[in-house]
Amino acid sequence: MFNPAIHKQRRTRLINLMRRGIAVIPTAPEAVRNGDAHYPYRYDSYFHYLTGFDEPEAVLVLVAGQGASGSPQAILFCREKNMEREIWDGYRHGPDAAKETFGFDAAFPVAQLDDQLTELMGNQPALFHPLGAHAVWDDRILALRARVQEKARSGITAPNEIHDVRMLLDEMRLIKDSEELATMRRAAAISTAAHIRAMRATHPGRMEYEIEAELLHEFRRCGAPAPAYTPIVAGGANACVLHYIGNNAVLKDGDLLLIDAACEVDGYAADITRTFPVNGKFNAAQKDVYEVVLAAQAAAIAAVRPGARWNEPHDAALRVLAQGMIGLGLCRGSLDSVLESEGYKRFYMHRTGHWLGMDVHDVGAYKQDDNWRVLQPGMTLTVEPGCYIRPADDVPQAFWNIGIRIEDDVVITAEGCEVLTEAAPKTVAAIEALMNRGSC
Ligand code: GLY
Ligand code: MN
Ligand code: MN
Repeated sequence: MFNPAIHKQRRTRLINLMRRGIAVIPTAPEAVRNGDAHYPYRYDSYFHYLTGFDEPEAVLVLVAGQGASGSPQAILFCREKNMEREIWDGYRHGPDAAKETFGFDAAFPVAQLDDQLTELMGNQPALFHPLGAHAVWDDRILALRARVQEKARSGITAPNEIHDVRMLLDEMRLIKDSEELATMRRAAAISTAAHIRAMRATHPGRMEYEIEAELLHEFRRCGAPAPAYTPIVAGGANACVLHYIGNNAVLKDGDLLLIDAACEVDGYAADITRTFPVNGKFNAAQKDVYEVVLAAQAAAIAAVRPGARWNEPHDAALRVLAQGMIGLGLCRGSLDSVLESEGYKRFYMHRTGHWLGMDVHDVGAYKQDDNWRVLQPGMTLTVEPGCYIRPADDVPQAFWNIGIRIEDDVVITAEGCEVLTEAAPKTVAAIEALMNRGSC
């Protein structure tokens, strides 16, 4: 839910972290798909975090303590009102309404950006910018700084420090406030409903893309504008391709279906994977592998608590997975030797999670001073162990082409953690009960 006061507080926090200097934070450019068709527009996450402003061609400028007026300033540059364009493309706030609605100290047409920035940068000691995010912006900002340098003989200096503003913003974004968590709960609820819909709709003979359509239908029906990432709907052997997005194969009786799909709501992502039998009943080999992955996930979730380090859930999942692989005959040797030799990596080659937030792989450092980061309340992450078994002579044939991942979204609380995506069934019994209860 849009609340301008929250974005204003974030701007003030960033200004305090900068202490001095000027920040220039553009939103994302529009992107042409082909011909006159554009990709659906998605604002830049940093820009939106600080503004709540959805329109393209907008730039936020923050001037910390030592601005010309001596007081901090938050300035928006945005498109002007334009009745002709608004007839074709829809409403534009324009600077005046944007200033009022979003609570900026000032707002100007984006066409004035270069001239105004040349003024605003003068005598600022430091420049904060998402360095390297967009080459076009790097070049433009450096060219403007050069314009300020040309004023040296008038006694005006250009910023002689350039910082990546993301270093400050990543840390802010890493800890979610209660509004952000409320939004993430909504994204999680819609996404879990979509997984339930997909399970109910799955039968032998249906196409992967038909199930993808069920997911997308539920996202849009519930008001989510888009998936948070391209859905993976992978039947049978396709589940062993980690980033499979073809979604165009027929679903076969006796295969599993792995779905990694979730929506974005008000700029925040969910990220859920469920794996279930196409015909509604796990066979013995599928169930054996599934129970190992589910137990690994339970062990990882039990390790998500304040004070634990980032690697602890991953290490907990690895121990259970490796032990399970030994039990299934996929790996040979003792648990310690399989962990030491990384023999499990043939079947589990990714890590057990990532930060989650405005970006599905969200920002924030995983290590600090070369140590895995300590988890704190308000951090949100995924827990997503898996097991992917490709055919091979030394692998029992019953397990060939089984690909399983179970992924939930978790927020760290004062006591431990809350699983935001619990409502999507994941025990064998719950999945089989749901799939055998009815169809759509
Ligand atoms: N859906 C992307 C991931 O699980 O990381
Ligand atoms: Mn994930
Ligand atoms: Mn995922």
